[in-house]
Amino acid sequence: MRTITVQGVPVPAFFYGTAWKEERTEDLTRAALEAGFTAIDTANQRRHYVEAAVGEAIRSLDRSKLFLQTKFTHLDGQDHPAPYDPGASPALQVAQSLASSLEHLRTDYVDSFVLHGPSLLDRFSSVDRQVWRAMAEEQSAGRARLLGVANVSRAHLETLFEADGPRPAFVQNRCWASTGWDREVRAFCRAHGIAYQAFSLLTANRRELAAPAVRDLARRTGRTVPQVVFRFALQVGMIPLTGTSDPAHMREDLACLDFALSDDDLAVVERLAPP
Ligand SMILES: NC(=O)c1ccc[n+]([C@@H]2O[C@H](COP(=O)([O-])OP(=O)(O)OC[C@H]3O[C@@H](n4cnc5c(N)ncnc54)[C@H](OP(=O)(O)O)[C@@H]3O)[C@@H](O)[C@H]2O)c1
Repeated sequence: MRTITVQGVPVPAFFYGTAWKEERTEDLTRAALEAGFTAIDTANQRRHYVEAAVGEAIRSLDRSKLFLQTKFTHLDGQDHPAPYDPGASPALQVAQSLASSLEHLRTDYVDSFVLHGPSLLDRFSSVDRQVWRAMAEEQSAGRARLLGVANVSRAHLETLFEADGPRPAFVQNRCWASTGWDREVRAFCRAHGIAYQAFSLLTANRRELAAPAVRDLARRTGRTVPQVVFRFALQVGMIPLTGTSDPAHMREDLACLDFALSDDDLAVVERLAPP
């Protein structure tokens, strides 16, 4: 798998996401690895992920060849028993959550540890800052190589940057064509050396991707619409995620690494956003 370098760490260019796979998580993670994915996204949040099943899927593999990303999720994002003491301080919750992730994943470090979402809509709160400091301690202790934040706006990032502490290596966001493919947040990331991970590229943009211009582009390049979208994402500097449950689609999606879109082609996809 092709890699990019983020804060000195090689990071695969395309991630496989394990949300919503439930009892198929282990088999589908294994299938994704067999198809050629080396980066796996999960979370210690039983509501949407079965992190322990990811651990089962990778148990006999060479850890050093995998890129494992997991997340810390605030209590209001958890429904099953949280992987930490709900009454503990935010810092202790982070430590307990990551310890549980490492147990699930049968490893002593994750490659990326992501704050699943800030606790307020419009800024990084004092609780988020405590969480971020605790995540930084996990990084200093060698249990997380890189840190990230998910589901953030530009205002979240600006308020995170007001505080001392490490800068995120990653932003992971839902990427809507209607917002210029998250134009504002991506610009902030570009300016600060943050790698932008894009999810829901297909599912959040069904209407835009049904446009005749996209279908024509796919026909002209001999690729499928998902391949065009993932390729667009790569070429404008994103790390795409796919959550496909179909092994044929896993291979199809990965094939976006093997062709290029021209500048004019990229403009067709870029222009799907309203001005
Ligand atoms: N941080 C967060 O809050 C957050 C939120 C959402 C997601 N995520 C992460 O991002 C990952 C991906 O989520 P997502 O929302 O992008 O995707 P997703 O909801 O898992 O689904 C991808 C969809 O695209 C379809 N698809 C993929 N490749 C295709 C192809 N080649 N042809 C036709 N259909 C194709 C899949 O159908 P088939 O299964 O039939 O292929 C599926 O319906 C998640 O698993 C999770 O790890 C993170």
